Amino acid sequence: MAKSDPLLEAARDGAGEQELLDIDLPATFRASFIRKDEVGIFEGQTDKDVRRSMHVGDVDMPELAPDECVVAVMSAAINFNTVWSAIFEPVPTFAFLAKFGRQGWYGARHDLPYHILGSDGSGVVVRTGVGVKNWKVGDRVVISPSYVDEEDHGSYDDGMMSESQLAWGFETNFGSLGDYCIVKANQLIRKPRHLSWEEAGSNTLCAATAYRMLVGKHGAQMKQGDVVLIWGATGGLGSYATQLVKNGGGIPVGVVSSEDKADLVRAQGCEHVINRNDLDLGEQGLRHPKAGRMLGEAIRGLVGEDPGIVFEYLGRETFGASVYVAKRGGRIVTCGSSTGFKHEYDNRFLWMRLKSIIGSHGFNYHEAVETNRLFSLGMIHPTLSKVFSLEDAGEATRAVQTNQHIGKVAVLCGATAEGQGVDDPAMRERIGEEKLTLFRR
Ligand SMILES: NC(=O)c1ccc[n+]([C@@H]2O[C@H](COP(=O)([O-])OP(=O)(O)OC[C@H]3O[C@@H](n4cnc5c(N)ncnc54)[C@H](OP(=O)(O)O)[C@@H]3O)[C@@H](O)[C@H]2O)c1
Repeated sequence: MAKSDPLLEAARDGAGEQELLDIDLPATFRASFIRKDEVGIFEGQTDKDVRRSMHVGDVDMPELAPDECVVAVMSAAINFNTVWSAIFEPVPTFAFLAKFGRQGWYGARHDLPYHILGSDGSGVVVRTGVGVKNWKVGDRVVISPSYVDEEDHGSYDDGMMSESQLAWGFETNFGSLGDYCIVKANQLIRKPRHLSWEEAGSNTLCAATAYRMLVGKHGAQMKQGDVVLIWGATGGLGSYATQLVKNGGGIPVGVVSSEDKADLVRAQGCEHVINRNDLDLGEQGLRHPKAGRMLGEAIRGLVGEDPGIVFEYLGRETFGASVYVAKRGGRIVTCGSSTGFKHEYDNRFLWMRLKSIIGSHGFNYHEAVETNRLFSLGMIHPTLSKVFSLEDAGEATRAVQTNQHIGKVAVLCGATAEGQGVDDPAMRERIGEEKLTLFRR
């Protein structure tokens, strides 16, 4: 910690409700943020290095709305949306904050000249708004980044269907990359007791997104025996997708870009792995007209059939191949376009073979809770590979920006060292460090 903060220290040390309430909330706190007056600094540059746009400094503690809590963040994590925010693409996130601000009421607080990023985290509740009834000060939590307005009728069947749904820490301010963050009480989930702060705080965004895409009723609804092609099987989304497919009785086929990554995917229990560099597609890479056919042959060579589900988020580079390799009646489920938003694919292979493309985004509260339940039960595990300090949040984001990472990257905030926050060491021992820290080795 940069300066002494009695509340943060007490929260870290496991102080009880009254003790935490007796300590004043600080007026300012340390956070990592981007600045509105720097939008445009990357114009015309090829390497938009996020270390230039991410700053660490003191920010004001915001006022608390009745349905919100202040969480003393022990650990946060980097997601790809942190990268998008820090390069001000596809649109500067200050546009989201301004839109939120126009809602008035407590939304107006978010429209500031700085944006505290971070959409995943774990920590301790240190204040609750007057309307919060199920959570109390001292609760140890993980934060779901899905931000839903329950007064919006659109959210009643599925929170993601509400027009006002937001990605917390991306489309809202006061995210997890700070010593404190502000959340709606409905974003809180009990922390899996056997995990450390940094392990618990790095899962929800990617794991629950993968859960909705593969398992949830709005996604591909994977069933036992389904063959699932997973791009980037050691990445944030991919590393959880692989586990969810295995855990649900499916047959994952992981795509990676190196032999080390292939070994890691096998160590996760995924027998079938393709190193995309072995496809020998020349400069065009996966956009080569024969990429789909070559990938399809590789998949059939491994499992003897075409995938019923393709787990997509890469977009321009891979989408044509993804549509091609899916089996007759197969589903291509997509939640992103890392390599470019405008895709090309040969539509004949879609309609003649009765395939479908499913757009997916985030997850609702139910899906976030169900996903964290799987972690709590020890059925799926964190894929944390590297831990940075809050002062180095820019470095941590740079690792994700340049694909130098595997799995997830965490950022310690209130926690002073890795491994803190484990409440159930016996369960940890039962599951085994080998599974829990696979991506650290
Ligand atoms: N809509 C949503 O709710 C949602 C939620 C989460 C993430 N996303 C989006 O999903 C994308 C991925 O997020 P993430 O956190 O999983 O990112 P990540 O951790 O960086 O993983 C991406 C993976 O993609 C693979 N990859 C990179 N370039 C590739 C290429 N040209 N061809 C094939 N594979 C390539 C890499 O694996 P190899 O190099 O080993 O192949 C890497 O492991 C981002 O665009 C993010 O914004 C959307």
